[in-house]
Amino acid sequence: MLDEIQKIGSEAEQKISAAKTTAEIEEIRVEYLGRRSQLTSLLRGIAELPDAEKAAAGKAANQVRAEIESLLSERETALADGEMAESIAGGGIDISLPGAPALPIGNLNLITLTRRRIEDLMVGLGYRVAEGPEIELDFYNFTALNHPEGHPARMVQDTFYVAPGSLARALDDEVLLRTHTSPVQVRAMESQSPPLFIVVPGKVYRRDSDATHSPMFHQVEGLAVAEGITLADLKGTLLELLRGLFGPDREIRMRPHFFPFTEPSVEFDVSCFACSEGVTEESQRCGLCKGIGWIEVGGAGMVDPEVFGFVESNGYDPERIQGFAFGMGIERIAMLKHGIGDLRRIFEGDVRLIGQFG
Ligand code: PHE
Repeated sequence: MLDEIQKIGSEAEQKISAAKTTAEIEEIRVEYLGRRSQLTSLLRGIAELPDAEKAAAGKAANQVRAEIESLLSERETALADGEMAESIAGGGIDISLPGAPALPIGNLNLITLTRRRIEDLMVGLGYRVAEGPEIELDFYNFTALNHPEGHPARMVQDTFYVAPGSLARALDDEVLLRTHTSPVQVRAMESQSPPLFIVVPGKVYRRDSDATHSPMFHQVEGLAVAEGITLADLKGTLLELLRGLFGPDREIRMRPHFFPFTEPSVEFDVSCFACSEGVTEESQRCGLCKGIGWIEVGGAGMVDPEVFGFVESNGYDPERIQGFAFGMGIERIAMLKHGIGDLRRIFEGDVRLIGQFG
């Protein structure tokens, strides 16, 4: 039996060194090491040998097996390297082609694109981008913005409070998810003396959920503070911004409104870009502006002197400086611009929708 094993070994060795392709190597592997190979059946037969011969035969068979295995893999590597070099030299492989299938690289989310567009337009007007925390103190979100006790926005029905109790006691204030980007007005004025021109994008949170409201959404705040700023500056800035977003032919209008932290306060609208004064080209009532000819975009106003009072020591003397602020929802801008009816679609991540932009 030992002779037989040796014979298989040397036969295999010869064939391996004569093999010219990796395919041949594979055939030899099956022939000599496969389940139906001679060596495998010899190994099976060892159990029936007399005890005295078992150990030596088993050892020899395993040794030959290991030798064949290592010769095979050595030869295979050498042949594969040669085949690869030949194939590249012969132009069979274009190594400059992308892997197949080429993977789509994706695109930025519509909200990111819209935010960047707004930032770019404001930076073009000399503003800088500022940010603030999403988990905010009541002081910045409400108190310093002149919200009176009992204002509806302060109620738990409208605002998410974080761990009321221990955390609030430790900080000596309520902690909440900010309901607007306006708290960054106060934070920015605390850290920089006037003049101050900032644009503040970010996530905000409200207990609201339907086709046009989401508990989390994005706002952009604008704040300009310097000596001699007027409501006309606000209007000019909004006109520039909204023309940049919705087209050079847009007009804007401001309607009186109320916010606790601006005085006077306005809501501002942009002229509808889908119709002419509420009537479509087909003489139908326009669906986008509901036949009004104007679309509401956001809230704004002149910074209330009460707000400056909280940062007076940093150069914000309400007798000397003025400012305007405005805020608007990024989702709303994106929905208007792209005719998206349901806000929730933007967050669902369906590539059929979000893959259309950028
Ligand atoms: N923060 C207000 C809101 O979320 C919008 C606003 C911003 C109004 C700045 C006036 C000035 O409704």
